[in-house]
Amino acid sequence: MTDIVTAFAPATVGNVGVGFDILGHTVEAIGDRVRIARSREPGVRITAITGTSEALPLEAERNTAGRALLAMVEAHRLDFGMDVSIEKGIPLGSGLGGSAASAVAAVVAGNALLATPLSKLELLKFAMQGEAVASGSVHVDNIAPSLFGGLVLTVGIDNPRTKQIPVPATVRCVLVHPHMFLSTKEARRILSDQVSLSDVIWQCANLAGFISGCYTDDLAMLRDAFADVVIEPQRQALIPGFADVQRAAMSHGAIGCSISGAGPTVFAWCEEGAAVAIRDAMVAAFAAHGLDSDRWISQIGQDGARVLP
Ligand code: HSE
Repeated sequence: MTDIVTAFAPATVGNVGVGFDILGHTVEAIGDRVRIARSREPGVRITAITGTSEALPLEAERNTAGRALLAMVEAHRLDFGMDVSIEKGIPLGSGLGGSAASAVAAVVAGNALLATPLSKLELLKFAMQGEAVASGSVHVDNIAPSLFGGLVLTVGIDNPRTKQIPVPATVRCVLVHPHMFLSTKEARRILSDQVSLSDVIWQCANLAGFISGCYTDDLAMLRDAFADVVIEPQRQALIPGFADVQRAAMSHGAIGCSISGAGPTVFAWCEEGAAVAIRDAMVAAFAAHGLDSDRWISQIGQDGARVLP
């Protein structure tokens, strides 16, 4: 039986603009790794966290990976313990699904230690508990794509149903992460719980248009349906220069541009040939507001979390 397992889980763009808390896609370029060693001593222990200078909780109950594994251990009354080390490849507070990726990598690694592996749906539910530790709420738009891969829609919380949505083959995602920290809890706290009927109608139409555009390879439909009229207007003030960065992306041919998850990373969908110009324009727009940034151009691949050889 295996005693030591390492798993990788990719970063994700949550919301993808129009699908607040229910839609997300993978970013192949970066991710977190979790290594678990089976132990005779029961319980879950976080033994090391590397790849970040920020202090993350070592107490399993308060750590996203630890909490997800505790949920697995408790639900299945596992008779062994786990020593867990986490290697952060995703910047903290970036809006790239770092807490979700750690939780997902943890449950995928933990699953490989079980005599009878669990289904991905069961793993999803355990990882959701880990994500809740970091963000203060249970949402699935980062967890589901990090686990399943690709662009993933999730319906339901207690009994989540997931669907991988096809993405037109020529689409690329440009991501620009300005060097600032934005707390997901804070970016959720500022949201109003009141939405006007007209905004609900627009958002529903755009989400429906976005999904149908993906299924039918209709880039014109994606372009018209990309706008998030509910969340982005409330959050953009948290990201210095957001409007200029978005304008830069759109004026260089992006299909659409919005906030990745809770921000501050901004993402744009575009056709492959336009990606470099869009990336450079977005980076320059952040620089004009005094912010250096990391940047990536990623395919929206179909690979989710996996055990590493
Ligand atoms: N859907 C979440 C949000 C993603 O936008 O708050 C962040 O974890």
